[in-house]
Amino acid sequence: VLYSAFNLAPLLGLALVGVFLGSTLACPSRCECSAQSRSVVCHRKRLPSIPEGIPIETRILDLSKNRIQAINPDDFAAYPHIEELDLSGNIIAYVEPGAFNMLYSLHALSLKSNRIKLLSLGVFTSLSNLTTLDISDNKIVILVDYMFQDLHNLKTLEVGDNELVYISHRAFNGLLALESLTLERCNLTAVPTDALSHLHNLVSLHMRYLNIGTLHPYSFKKLFRLRHLEIDSWPALASLPANALHGLNLTTLSITNTNLSAFPYQALRHMPYLTHLNLSHCRVRTVEGGLLQDLVRLRELRLAGAQLHSVEPYAFQGLRWLRLLDVSHNRLETLERGVFQAPEGLEVLQINGNPLVCDCRLMWLLQKRQAVSFGEEQPECSTPEGNRGRPFREFKETLLSYYVTCTKPKIRENRTQLVSVEEGQWAQLSCSADGTPRPTISWVTPRRRHLTSRNQGRVMVHNNGSLDIKAVEVQDGGVYVCVASNTAGNDTMMVSLAVKSLGSLYANRTQYSVDPNSTTANSTNLPNTTFGLDLKTILVSTAMGCFAFLGVVLFCFLLLFVWSRGKGKHKNNIDVEYVPRAGGAEGTEQSSAGRRFNVKMI
Ligand SMILES: *[C@@H]1O[C@H](CO)[C@@H](O)[C@H](O)[C@H]1NC(C)=O
Ligand SMILES: *[C@@H]1O[C@H](CO)[C@@H](O)[C@H](O)[C@H]1NC(C)=O
Ligand SMILES: *[C@@H]1O[C@H](CO)[C@@H](O)[C@H](O)[C@H]1NC(C)=O
Ligand SMILES: *[C@@H]1O[C@H](CO)[C@@H](O)[C@H](O)[C@H]1NC(C)=O
Ligand SMILES: *[C@@H]1O[C@H](CO)[C@@H](O)[C@H](O)[C@H]1NC(C)=O
Ligand SMILES: *[C@@H]1O[C@H](CO)[C@@H](O)[C@H](O)[C@H]1NC(C)=O
Ligand SMILES: *[C@@H]1O[C@H](CO)[C@@H](O)[C@H](O)[C@H]1NC(C)=O
Ligand SMILES: *[C@@H]1O[C@H](CO)[C@@H](O)[C@H](O)[C@H]1NC(C)=O
Ligand SMILES: *[C@@H]1O[C@H](CO)[C@@H](O)[C@H](O)[C@H]1NC(C)=O
Ligand SMILES: *[C@@H]1O[C@H](CO)[C@@H](O)[C@H](O)[C@H]1NC(C)=O
Ligand SMILES: *[C@@H]1O[C@H](CO)[C@@H](O)[C@H](O)[C@H]1NC(C)=O
Ligand SMILES: *[C@@H]1O[C@H](CO)[C@@H](O)[C@H](O)[C@H]1NC(C)=O
Repeated sequence: VLYSAFNLAPLLGLALVGVFLGSTLACPSRCECSAQSRSVVCHRKRLPSIPEGIPIETRILDLSKNRIQAINPDDFAAYPHIEELDLSGNIIAYVEPGAFNMLYSLHALSLKSNRIKLLSLGVFTSLSNLTTLDISDNKIVILVDYMFQDLHNLKTLEVGDNELVYISHRAFNGLLALESLTLERCNLTAVPTDALSHLHNLVSLHMRYLNIGTLHPYSFKKLFRLRHLEIDSWPALASLPANALHGLNLTTLSITNTNLSAFPYQALRHMPYLTHLNLSHCRVRTVEGGLLQDLVRLRELRLAGAQLHSVEPYAFQGLRWLRLLDVSHNRLETLERGVFQAPEGLEVLQINGNPLVCDCRLMWLLQKRQAVSFGEEQPECSTPEGNRGRPFREFKETLLSYYVTCTKPKIRENRTQLVSVEEGQWAQLSCSADGTPRPTISWVTPRRRHLTSRNQGRVMVHNNGSLDIKAVEVQDGGVYVCVASNTAGNDTMMVSLAVKSLGSLYANRTQYSVDPNSTTANSTNLPNTTFGLDLKTILVSTAMGCFAFLGVVLFCFLLLFVWSRGKGKHKNNIDVEYVPRAGGAEGTEQSSAGRRFNVKMI
């Protein structure tokens, strides 16, 4: 007995080992199983099909990177406890409807990186507890109606990297719990507005690497819960219509790597809850003043790697919570304090990678450089010469007012200029000024129009300050004022422009008379410089001509009266001929050769 007892001990041990092995034996060959987490990992094992011997109680099944070609109905029916199934990186071309039958516990399913061309109706039935589905990186061309209908609990759907050309209007029907959708790298040519409108609980929408060139007005309908919208890498997107984002109540918006050339002020109206805005890598050249006032809660604004030349004063007016501004890698020369509503609240300002001119406009920032974070890279001055390449943090407090200065503009040309041109010619009035920062030049015309280099047309200002007038007209004559201004002050200069008329003045003036050829006046008899002639002037001069004429008549009348008194009373009929002065503007009713009056003497 004792002997057998001694012999039994190893046997018992063996049996114990056997029981232990029993659970490991249930693991498919080449796979790794963990009894504790109930997982079976068959990653990269060259399996041609779903292996035999998967324990029935398996929760996590990883079959990624194998050579599985097809999924057939009930392939997984024997494993009702599977919660996570990873089939990514296989060569699955077709999934039969019913393939995932009975997988009521399934939470996460990945079919990423396979060769699926079409997902037919019924593939996902019974997956009512699925929360994550990834079908990205396949060859799906179309998403058909109702294909996700039973996925009532799906929260995340990845549809990227397919050859999608069309998403059917009801493709997303039933996805009532969907919170996050990624649509990227596919051949869509327009936003699938109708399909998306079924996703009433969608919170974030990521649309990346799409070749969509236009975003139509009202592109996003009924997305009441959407808070995060990402539009990234749409190289053909050149503008954002005013109503493109209408109806959305976003907190995060990013429209990056696009061809946008103007800041989409209008489209961003009615987004008072927006806190994060990323417009990096576009072609926006300027942020204009006072147009972002509606973004009252904006905290972070990123405009990195755009083509920003200027941020105008009051650009961020109304943005009192702005904490972070990223304008790195642009073409900004400066960023004045006056662009911010609350510069003291600014915590991070990334402004490196700009050709900064370190003058008094940047003084506020240099003084604040301990209180503000510049991000990973310190900004540097590119001019003036003495400060080139000098990182901000190397400015000594005491030397700031020495280095960082501004000087008032001083116009180089002489105080007063007289320019005389013939009508129809081209006139150029020059005005250039020195000063730090470089003064901007504007002109005020005799008619009090303010012109800057932004105005285009017959009369325009060049970037160097010269005013160009093409095909000068008589009414262009007058005094022009050049104003050179910068933050330190301004300087002005006057230029009078005299325009020699070439007869067109005459032609235009005589259009009020019956016969323009009546007067013998040659245009050279007219004053050779005329300042602004209008109807009023013509009427006044006509009236004056009439007065002069009446005066002469009266004078003659008086003379004749005196003469008649002296010479007796035998003549009582006298003819008086009056020829109006040449060049006068009178006569609207008279004809050519003067006027004849018959004065009867009593
Ligand atoms: C599916 O989810 C529901 C609740 O969402 C739950 O009551 C049910 O037990 C889940 N079914 C399985 C098999 O996990
Ligand atoms: C999608 O676009 C790619 C690249 O432009 C092209 O090779 C492919 O044929 C397109 N697919 C479809 C279905 O149009
Ligand atoms: C971006 O816009 C510019 C100017 O409108 C145009 O020349 C260029 O081709 C556009 N780029 C793309 C990728 O559409
Ligand atoms: C917009 O979103 C904010 C916060 O995300 C929320 O407080 C507000 O009620 C929403 N407004 C509307 C009209 O849905
Ligand atoms: C903003 O967009 C750029 C360009 O896509 C990206 O590199 C950057 O990470 C984005 N920043 C944030 C905070 O999302
Ligand atoms: C300014 O006036 C001076 C004489 O007063 C003259 O010598 C000089 O050439 C003028 N300069 C210009 C730019 O007209
Ligand atoms: C300013 O630029 C215009 C056009 O480029 C040129 O015609 C003009 O001569 C320039 N003026 C001066 C003073 O350099
Ligand atoms: C020029 O400066 C004066 C004060 O120095 C100011 O009153 C005036 O408005 C400025 N003019 C322009 C056009 O900036
Ligand atoms: C004559 O006046 C008209 C408008 O009153 C104007 O359009 C026209 O250019 C003028 N003719 C010439 C030669 O200036
Ligand atoms: C005025 O004279 C010109 C030639 O000098 C002639 O062609 C034109 O017809 C005349 N106009 C009138 C209204 O007589
Ligand atoms: C005006 O006078 C000039 C010379 O002074 C002459 O050549 C021209 O023909 C005259 N024009 C008319 C319309 O008489
Ligand atoms: C135009 O008037 C100026 C002075 O006002 C005079 O010097 C000039 O000789 C005149 N030109 C002609 C063509 O009469």
